[in-house]
Order: sequence, then structure tokens, then C-alpha cells
Amino acid sequence: MVELDKIKNFAVIGGGIMGSGIAQVALLTGYEKVTVIDLNSEILEKSRILIQQRIEALESEEKCKEFFAYHDLLKNLDFKNKLGSFESVGIVANKVDIKTILSRLCTETDISKGVRDTDFVIEAVSEKMELKQKIFEQLGEYSPPQAVLASNTSSMSITDIAQDSKRPEKVIGMHFHTYFPITGMLIEITPGEKSSAESLDIGREVAQRFPSLMGERFTVQLEKETPGLIANRLAITGTLYFNWLMNQAIENGISREKLDAADFSSEVADVIGIDTIYYCSKYLEKKISPDFAPSERLTDLFNEGKFGRKVGEGFYKWNEDGPIKNLPPVEKSTTDFITKLLDLEIISAIQLNEACRLLDEGVVKSYELINKVLLKGTFMPGPFVIGKTKYKEWAEKLYDFAEKSGKSYLKPCDMMESGRFLDFK
Ligand SMILES: NC(=O)c1ccc[n+]([C@@H]2O[C@H](COP(=O)([O-])OP(=O)(O)OC[C@H]3O[C@@H](n4cnc5c(N)ncnc54)[C@H](O)[C@@H]3O)[C@@H](O)[C@H]2O)c1
Repeated sequence: MVELDKIKNFAVIGGGIMGSGIAQVALLTGYEKVTVIDLNSEILEKSRILIQQRIEALESEEKCKEFFAYHDLLKNLDFKNKLGSFESVGIVANKVDIKTILSRLCTETDISKGVRDTDFVIEAVSEKMELKQKIFEQLGEYSPPQAVLASNTSSMSITDIAQDSKRPEKVIGMHFHTYFPITGMLIEITPGEKSSAESLDIGREVAQRFPSLMGERFTVQLEKETPGLIANRLAITGTLYFNWLMNQAIENGISREKLDAADFSSEVADVIGIDTIYYCSKYLEKKISPDFAPSERLTDLFNEGKFGRKVGEGFYKWNEDGPIKNLPPVEKSTTDFITKLLDLEIISAIQLNEACRLLDEGVVKSYELINKVLLKGTFMPGPFVIGKTKYKEWAEKLYDFAEKSGKSYLKPCDMMESGRFLDFK
């Protein structure tokens, strides 16, 4: 049994979208000190204000509803019930008031100072391998030898991230499957080739204790690392279909502006961060298949520095209230074109195929577990729910689609086509 009581000081590297959210749940878990480390005091001040607002919003049901109102998942949340479960791990359980919780938040620009007395670190800097490697080299140099060092990477190899840390046995992956950690359930724990069983055990238990407004956390440990982990790998593969659909429209004379008018751009992508999705897609392109190359539209936004809500512009322009959508009237020809072409079953088939690849690679041992990961991560049923009866039909669809789209990676793998996945219940 892991002695979690020994973990008192927490450090979060990067105070952006994820770092701020992770610091919030770490503070609510009751750690004595949570230090956020970032490049300069301006970023840190923004992060501190965000963390404070989000914690204060949890003081009462009314405040909470008001603050989280724009968040779809929380619109219909049964706050009485959920806040009950939240309180059992958060503010009430720790018998501390908000002021005390906030007094435990520290900020630091010098990583050597920020991590020198830390017991657990979560890195949440941009999704760039060289940057993460540099951070883990510094963590290896400056953090105490017993500290567990986790990366919140969305797609990358923990083995590679840990390569210069001089203590890869302490390095693990800890991926929060949402841009808003207090509202998510799923956390994926990933081993690198050298991660010790003890580090993974500590990571799982630390993850399990983070409070969530949705109820109990769901923590899953992958059998081995894989680009994109489980939930992101399936999600990103699914978007290949959507990208193809948009390209078809453009090739058929429907302009980007007309597609935007019909609201086919992705608000969620703006919230996640255009740069994060771009870097993940580039990584999967390099590690799995050229078919994962980011779409032209995403690449253009990335090159223009339109990284989404965090910088005020991505697919949409943003202000404090949300995306500004001054959409012109939708042209019927645009929606007719998309509706005629759209086949949502292809997305399910693509995800089933990818999930079968994960079983084949030995990343997960059971398809029921993949279903559960999807359900807890996205609140949607996993691909095997319907796929276990429709896989033959879906395999045919994939052959057709792979040919039509030129994306040969999307051809059904043997595990899917043969139904062999049914043995991995
Ligand atoms: N955005 C999401 O929805 C999401 C979800 C899960 C995981 N992730 C992962 O979390 C990580 C962070 O993503 P994000 O969305 O928070 O990005 P972000 O751009 O919002 O934040 C990254 C932060 O890292 C800081 N940073 C850069 N270099 C640094 C350095 N040398 N030292 C300290 N800080 C530094 C930046 O200043 C910035 O504040 C990425 O690995 C991403 O893949 C993102």
C-alpha cells in the first residue's frame, strides 16, 4: 500500500489551461503546498487568478452553476448530488476553508527552487518533445530523489520524455482527459519502459484522489505506452473522417466561409488549444501514419498563431463570454451537401478499428475496458457496444472509405475484420 501521507508538496510545471486546472484539483485534495511553475510572473498571475476564481466558484451551488454555465457537461448537472461527492474529497473533507486552501498556492519562475522540496510533480507544458525532455532533465537535477515525476502529455512516449531525467523509474504519464480537470472523470496512467511499479502505484492513487464534480474518478493504467494513449488515439483517428468531409466540401466549391457559416468549425478545438491538437497530430503522423497529418485548416491556424481561446482567436474569435459567432445565414446547399455525404457509422467504424489495434498492440487487455474508458472520458458509449455485432459491415465501410479517401491506414485491421477482438472481453 502506498503511503500517500508522505506526499505533502505538489508542483505543477506550466500554468496554462491544464496546469491551472491540475493545481486546482491538487489544492482541493488537500496537499500542504501546491507550486505552479511557469516562464514569467505575468503568466503565473493569470494562472493564480484563474485557480482562485475556480475554487471560489465551488463555494456554493449558485456560484458554481453561474461559473460553469457555459460548460455543456455541467448545464444539467445534479449539483446537490455531485457536490455531495465532491465535498467528500474536497473542501469539507479536509475541513479547511477556501482562504486556507488558497494560501497553499505558490508560484515560481525558477524551476530549481520550485521543485526542490516537492514530493510529486505533474508537468503540463506545451506538447513539444524537446521542451518536455528539457523539463524532465531539470526535474531529475533539482527535485528530491523520492519525488514521482508525471507528465500530462496527450500523445507522447514517456520513455522518450524521461530520457535525460537520470531517473526514468520515477517518471510516469498521468493524462487528464479534459481541459477542465475538475469536470472530468478519466485519468490515464501510462508507464514508460523503465517506470517502476511503485511510481505507477503512487501515480494511480494520487490520480484517484483528485476530486471531480462528476463523481468518482476513473483511473486506468495502460499495459504499455502508445502514441495518443487510449481516448485521444480514438478521438484523433475519428477526426480524420471529419477532415475528409470538410475537404470534400471545399473541393466541391463550398468555401471555408460557407462551412463556417454552417458552424462546422470546432469550438471544442479552440478550447483545447489549436497548438496542442496540431502537435498531437504531428506526433501521430510521425509515429503511426502520414494519414494523421493535421488538416490544412488546422495548419493554417497554427501557423498564424491562432491557438484558440487562450489567445483570443482560433476557429472563432473569443471574449470572456465565449466564442463570438456572427455567423452569416447558412446556405441550404452547404447543409444538403454535408448531410448527403455524412455517415456517422464510419466514425464508429474508425474508432472500433483503432481500438482493435490497441488490443493487438497489448496496450489494453480487454475491450470492455476500452468501452469504459470512452464512457468515463467522453460520456459516450465505446466503439465495441455496437461494434461487436456490426464489425463485419463496418469493415466493409472502412475498405470503401480507405479507398475513397486515400487514407490506407483506415483499412480494417485483422483483429477487427476477423472479430478476434471478441476473445478479449
Ligand atoms: N488542453 C487540453 O485540453 C489538454 C488536455 C489534456 C492534456 N493536455 C496536455 O497538457 C499539456 C499542457 O497543455 P495546455 O493545454 O495546458 O497548454 P497551454 O499552452 O495552455 O499551457 C502550457 C504552459 O506551459 C508553459 N511553459 C512553456 N515552456 C515552459 C517552461 N520551460 N517552463 C515552465 N512552463 C513553461 C507556457 O508558458 C504555458 O503557460 C500538453 O502536454 C497537452 O498535450 C492538454
